Amino acid sequence: MESTEKRNIVAFCSPAGSTRRVAQVITRALKGLGEKPMVFDLADRVELSDLHVYLDHPAPGSCLYIGSPVYACHPVPPVVDLLSNLPRAKGSYAVPFVTWGMVTSGVALHEMATMLDERGYRVAGAAKVAALHSLTWQFASPLGEGRPDAGDERLVEEMVEKVNAKLSANHVHPLCLQDLNYQPIEAQAVMREANIGGAKKALPPRQVHKELCTECGICVDACPVHAITYEPYLQLGPECILCGNCVRLCPEGAIEADFSQMERWLKDRAEQNAERPLTQIFV
Ligand SMILES: Cc1cc2nc3c(=O)[nH]c(=O)nc-3n(C[C@H](O)[C@H](O)[C@H](O)COP(=O)(O)O)c2cc1C
Repeated sequence: MESTEKRNIVAFCSPAGSTRRVAQVITRALKGLGEKPMVFDLADRVELSDLHVYLDHPAPGSCLYIGSPVYACHPVPPVVDLLSNLPRAKGSYAVPFVTWGMVTSGVALHEMATMLDERGYRVAGAAKVAALHSLTWQFASPLGEGRPDAGDERLVEEMVEKVNAKLSANHVHPLCLQDLNYQPIEAQAVMREANIGGAKKALPPRQVHKELCTECGICVDACPVHAITYEPYLQLGPECILCGNCVRLCPEGAIEADFSQMERWLKDRAEQNAERPLTQIFV
């Protein structure tokens, strides 16, 4: 049965925390406007199943803020799965947002907006937000260190205020999706073909030292796609999306990868792309 109460829903996947932080800024801004947003972390199985209850029967006028990191130019698999399986909505709105690590924001925002549009959501706003590159913590100067910063947060708040004003006035011109297709045309084909499978081959392999594992549970809790098991010993499953949380957080070094090898390559790509503006809102 369709719910009649208009809701603001903020859902996100955030292995390393930057997308969560933007989701928190959105939530705070909505609360400041007198709204009562509901917040869902896609990595939490209980929250994900609660989210489906609301998305199965969205009330007209509801707005879904949905956030993803950019991985290999695209939204991450948990976000793609959610958007590909959304039931058709009528009279609902959506605001996709992405965080990216200064290399390229790829085609993620345009893809998310297109999927939402195809499922009947009217895209009322969007944002790309510069963030710490979550695979560069081993570098002397990590890419995107200090981002998102106060200026980025201010832009996100401005987007929420403008979207909310449009929705409250019942005067919503959906975005022109083509505005989100902002990458140079000659770069787009390569970006669309990039994928996590390719990144798996290109990135330094994770080495699992099962003899060092104390089964403390940190990696299991931090894995956004539940790909780690201790049965019968520490193993990474094929669902792994390469977020690197297990490598970064294991206190025993039981899962290891040397990302410092990628420093020059990533920084060269960031310089070549020179994507600007770093943070941008669309309303
Ligand atoms: C496997 C992987 C692939 C990534 N691919 C890109 C990319 O194509 N472009 C980019 O600028 N940043 C890339 N990043 C960096 C993330 O987009 C960025 O750090 C993002 O803010 C992470 O969000 P989170 O902190 O919410 O997990 C990648 C990170 C990982 C782990």
